Amino acid sequence: MNPRAPIPSGRLEARVQVPFSYPVLFCRDVFSPDQDTLCQALLPQPGAEAPPRVLVWLDAGLADAWPGLADRARAWFTARMPGLDLGRTAVFPGGEAVKDGWTHVHGMIRELNHHNLCRKSAVVAVGGGAFLDAAGLACALFHRGVNLVRLPSTVLSQNDSGVGVKNGINAEGKKNLLGAFAPPRAVVCDLDFLSTLPDDVMRDGLAESFKVAIIKDAAFFRFLCDNAPALSQGEPAALEESVVTTARLHVEHIAGGGDPFEMGVSRPLDFGHWAAHRLESLSGYALRHGQAVAVGLALDTCYARFSGLVTDRELEDILTGISASGLPVWNDLLEQRDASGQYAVLSGIEEFREHLGGRLAVTLPRGIGHRVEVDRMDTDLVIQCIASLKERAA
Ligand SMILES: NC(=O)c1ccc[n+]([C@@H]2O[C@H](COP(=O)([O-])OP(=O)(O)OC[C@H]3O[C@@H](n4cnc5c(N)ncnc54)[C@H](O)[C@@H]3O)[C@@H](O)[C@H]2O)c1
Ligand SMILES: [Zn+2]
Repeated sequence: MNPRAPIPSGRLEARVQVPFSYPVLFCRDVFSPDQDTLCQALLPQPGAEAPPRVLVWLDAGLADAWPGLADRARAWFTARMPGLDLGRTAVFPGGEAVKDGWTHVHGMIRELNHHNLCRKSAVVAVGGGAFLDAAGLACALFHRGVNLVRLPSTVLSQNDSGVGVKNGINAEGKKNLLGAFAPPRAVVCDLDFLSTLPDDVMRDGLAESFKVAIIKDAAFFRFLCDNAPALSQGEPAALEESVVTTARLHVEHIAGGGDPFEMGVSRPLDFGHWAAHRLESLSGYALRHGQAVAVGLALDTCYARFSGLVTDRELEDILTGISASGLPVWNDLLEQRDASGQYAVLSGIEEFREHLGGRLAVTLPRGIGHRVEVDRMDTDLVIQCIASLKERAA
């Protein structure tokens, strides 16, 4: 006997759809008083309400390279958006240190709280990919999300990380373990910022260009190879074309690929990344992301060759193109062993699977400009690839 009344309805369905739209704008000299790109970013749709309060945050490495940047930003707001409440400008570290655990994200959250930022207000964050990842997480968490206008200042952040919908920090010895999907209000890429990048940091972003070109766009891959010497020197015309094309390919995939929040298993933009992320954490984050991605691309392309997916010629073109643009195709960490004598990089495969959730899906090139996904990596074959890349490096 069941004395309780039956439940009136057995099932409710909560269908939630939240459309996002944000502009990615390219410009020069964003804080010049006659430059209005940032106005478009803060008021991206006609009739959009201006944020009541704006905070400007700077990456310390960028601020060092651009003395007076904070004053120029303040002067721009005074000239172009008078009446807007501008809080104090804050500077946070740049580079991987800013996303090493919670420390700096916490500092950013304290800054948001200090200014009593409301959800309609906005942060304008200017800096490299690591700084924007940390700022993005702080903004995603505070009040469950305050507006973020990203001004990426490196090649990699303008062509990849800054134009997407993800943020994150490293934790528990794992790359990007903690983070959120949180689209920005707008992205403004000031190409002039690229002029002060150290050569090696500038080249890091080229790795993401090769990544998308190899799996999505054969003509762009040819452009990168033909211009590799100019790109390795940061020659502005070639570099800017590569940045805009790479950003377009990323934005098209994120906005048009049908899975911006990565609910499915397919992750083509993570080609080369299972090894890259593992190498970064093995190096204690001394190895920068772009360098690690270049090595990861080399490893997975070699694997594609051994799997019959690319020809010898295509493998050679890819390795030569990456090297000619000043990026590495080998790193000694590939050979590092763990306590059990196993190649330490191999555990990156399982970490990647956990990060995807469900089954493994590793993107490999199929010819140049096309891709295929595999749900298993043969570790013996990966070890053969390591040996082959080592021999080539020698
Ligand atoms: N969220 C994503 O979708 C995504 C995608 C790809 C990469 N990432 C992340 O991006 C990070 C790498 O970003 P990055 O390559 O921009 O490097 P970075 O952010 O580590 O910056 C490198 C250095 O350049 C300095 N810097 C920044 N702008 C400068 C300028 N204009 N002039 C001189 N110095 C400047 C920084 O202070 C730092 O010291 C990694 O942490 C990676 O995981 C995130
Ligand atoms: Zn990457």
